[in-house]
Amino acid sequence: MGRSGLSVSRLALGTMTWGRETAPDEARDQLAAFLDAGGDLVDTAHGYADGLSEQALGSFLGDLVEREDLAICTKAGISRRSGDRVVDTSRRALMNQLDTSLERLGTHYVDLWLVHTWSPDTPLEETLSALEWAVTSGRARYVGVSNYSGWQSAHAATLMSARSIPLVANEVEYSLLSRRVEDEVAPAAEALGLGLMPWSPLARGVLTGKYRHGIPADSRAASRDYPGFTSRFLGERTAQVVDALVIAARGLEVSPAEVALAWVRDRPGVVAPVVGARTLQQLRTALASESLSLPPELVQALDDVSC
Ligand SMILES: NC(=O)c1ccc[n+]([C@@H]2O[C@H](COP(=O)([O-])OP(=O)(O)OC[C@H]3O[C@@H](n4cnc5c(N)ncnc54)[C@H](OP(=O)(O)O)[C@@H]3O)[C@@H](O)[C@H]2O)c1
Repeated sequence: MGRSGLSVSRLALGTMTWGRETAPDEARDQLAAFLDAGGDLVDTAHGYADGLSEQALGSFLGDLVEREDLAICTKAGISRRSGDRVVDTSRRALMNQLDTSLERLGTHYVDLWLVHTWSPDTPLEETLSALEWAVTSGRARYVGVSNYSGWQSAHAATLMSARSIPLVANEVEYSLLSRRVEDEVAPAAEALGLGLMPWSPLARGVLTGKYRHGIPADSRAASRDYPGFTSRFLGERTAQVVDALVIAARGLEVSPAEVALAWVRDRPGVVAPVVGARTLQQLRTALASESLSLPPELVQALDDVSC
């Protein structure tokens, strides 16, 4: 992971739907399939499904998988109060949330702990002091950030290296339909030794191609739980990218999702795309991307159409 000694699988298993659209049995099957495929990095957050995601993951530890065979990444700083999203990256909130996460997970440490988002309401030094506390108290093996811009990650990494505790990751939105990170965030990550963990690598499902002819009833775009989460990817410009992706996938005789995942996995600085799957079948498709190598001319064509 970045310039650290932490080694993880090339895909991370996202668990944002666990406890909500993904029932416990299905989550269990997903984790089993992920482990079978050689995966070991699992991504959750204090705020996912009001804690049900961490609880579900915790229930599988020591049963489906030994704790030390899994690299658990969780995040703090975003929660929900009466249904509303609350951002709080104060030392108090972060410390409380990490202890709650550990309790739900049933473990005394996480492998990677991230500040979920930047907040202008808390001095950065205060936020970072919580990361230092997490490492020195043994609650987190490594720490990082999520959704930090180029200058924010540079500032944070510089302050942390003065504390001799490096930041090792920045988890950011990155896909064929979301390439803004290439301007500042990815170069900053490379210079500072942070590994990139792309979230929504399928642009929230749009890069599967399933929205080309309408909105399927069982999809995220049709769900009331994600108001507006997919809509910005359903315009005319994005349709061109999806069409090109579908043609490329046909040529390779694989699914568009596999091509989209292999594309982002192989971008410079990327450590592990965080795949999201509501169902086991969707996860199997994502895992199939692991054996896919994209021909350079196809990568170039996808770069050109999506930039
Ligand atoms: N750090 C952050 O701020 C942040 C933010 C968001 C997410 N994340 C992490 O990133 C992970 C992935 O995010 P994401 O779920 O938005 O990623 P995504 O991979 O872009 O979208 C996943 C969704 O696409 C649909 N899908 C996936 N495979 C499919 C297939 N083969 N056929 C049809 N539909 C398919 C499913 O939704 P439907 O079937 O319901 O349509 C699935 O839930 C999350 O679990 C979480 O761990 C982090």
